[in-house]
Amino acid sequence: MSLQSCMTTQGLIAREARFGAKNYAPLPVVLARGAGAHLFDTSGKRYIDMMSAYSAASFGHLHPRLVHALKNQLERLDIVSRAYYSDNLGLFCEELAGLAGLEACLPMNTGAEAVETAIKAARRNGCDRLSIPEGQAEIIVAAGNFHGRTTTIVGFSSEPSYRRGFGPFAPGFITVPFGDAKAVDTAIGPCTAAVLIEPIQGEAGIIVPPEGYLASLRRICDRHGILLIFDEVQSGFGRAGRNFCFEHENAKPDGLIVGKALGGGLIPVSAFIARRTVMDVFTPGSHGSTFGGNPLAAAVAREAIQVLRDEDLALRSHVLGKSLLNALEDISHPAIVEVRGKGLWAGVELDPARAKAKDVCLAMMRRGVLTKETHDTVIRFAPPLVIDEADLLKAVEVFHDALAETVAPMD
Ligand SMILES: Cc1ncc(COP(=O)(O)O)c(C=O)c1O
Repeated sequence: MSLQSCMTTQGLIAREARFGAKNYAPLPVVLARGAGAHLFDTSGKRYIDMMSAYSAASFGHLHPRLVHALKNQLERLDIVSRAYYSDNLGLFCEELAGLAGLEACLPMNTGAEAVETAIKAARRNGCDRLSIPEGQAEIIVAAGNFHGRTTTIVGFSSEPSYRRGFGPFAPGFITVPFGDAKAVDTAIGPCTAAVLIEPIQGEAGIIVPPEGYLASLRRICDRHGILLIFDEVQSGFGRAGRNFCFEHENAKPDGLIVGKALGGGLIPVSAFIARRTVMDVFTPGSHGSTFGGNPLAAAVAREAIQVLRDEDLALRSHVLGKSLLNALEDISHPAIVEVRGKGLWAGVELDPARAKAKDVCLAMMRRGVLTKETHDTVIRFAPPLVIDEADLLKAVEVFHDALAETVAPMD
């Protein structure tokens, strides 16, 4: 019997609190097993997963085809580094670039690393092709962005808790309001190398920009001859009802950042995907990663791309996403300020004077549905794309009940 199976839930939580860093504030549930859209705690209680590990588990937990691809690869070749060629990497790059309608990939591991890769590409492209003086390239970003946790990236975050005490930060980022294409146009100057935007802001609370925003950004970047880079680490691979969110407006970027679901929920796999000329700013030795594009990653990611296609997961997300939004909009409750989303990705904004999002999540957890609030006021609904409609609607019903339980009636 394993040590953890002998310990109580409270004992396991206490261990983590005592020996781990306190950089997360998890709900008090200890998970031991997952399958499809379900998670199970140490006592065997089943939960509907409405988080999908921030889209990392978009294809469901332990998808049999993905597990098979990983096991198969494990019997053949593990990690070899990029000092040599390996037999899956070229095909992985071809298939991923093809899915995005772009030409070349640079594989990394985490989303933040792929964002860093995009920043390097944009700056060097600015120096080499746009005659921006070395060290002066600027990148336009949106307020409320979330692109990861490196010091460069949190340096252009507008969230004080991500930044406090972690400076000094890298210069060269100009922040404009999200959803305002005109503001981007106005901010572009002689040293602007790129615009870096999430097509839907996930961590900010599933903020959907006005229709036409992505297409306007494409036109503006074309007019100024600068790069448009979308961060689809969370919105990609079907989450927003298309393979990539930019497809909603046919706004193909020059560079695309992907991660999370690409690793099939099994291992970290991310990539910067770009037009050939953009990717060619990288020369041997200029950038790299020990684990980026390793044989295990390539095998799982190739199968993940195939699963996305074979199971029509983007279409499934589009269709079920409509049921999700309709069901959420049908809830009439004074604590609900707004319901928004696209595909299987919705946020319900609560009035903080009437409801505490964290308490609602705790009440949902007790009733068998797992999600987590974002920005203290938004309840997130982002289930694995393989979820069935009955579970999806059950989760909404549980949310409704949890609201009723936690919100004090108004006088
Ligand atoms: C849009 C976006 N970009 C980048 C990241 C960072 O990814 P990672 O946590 O894998 O570094 C995230 C993570 O939530 C994200 O949502």
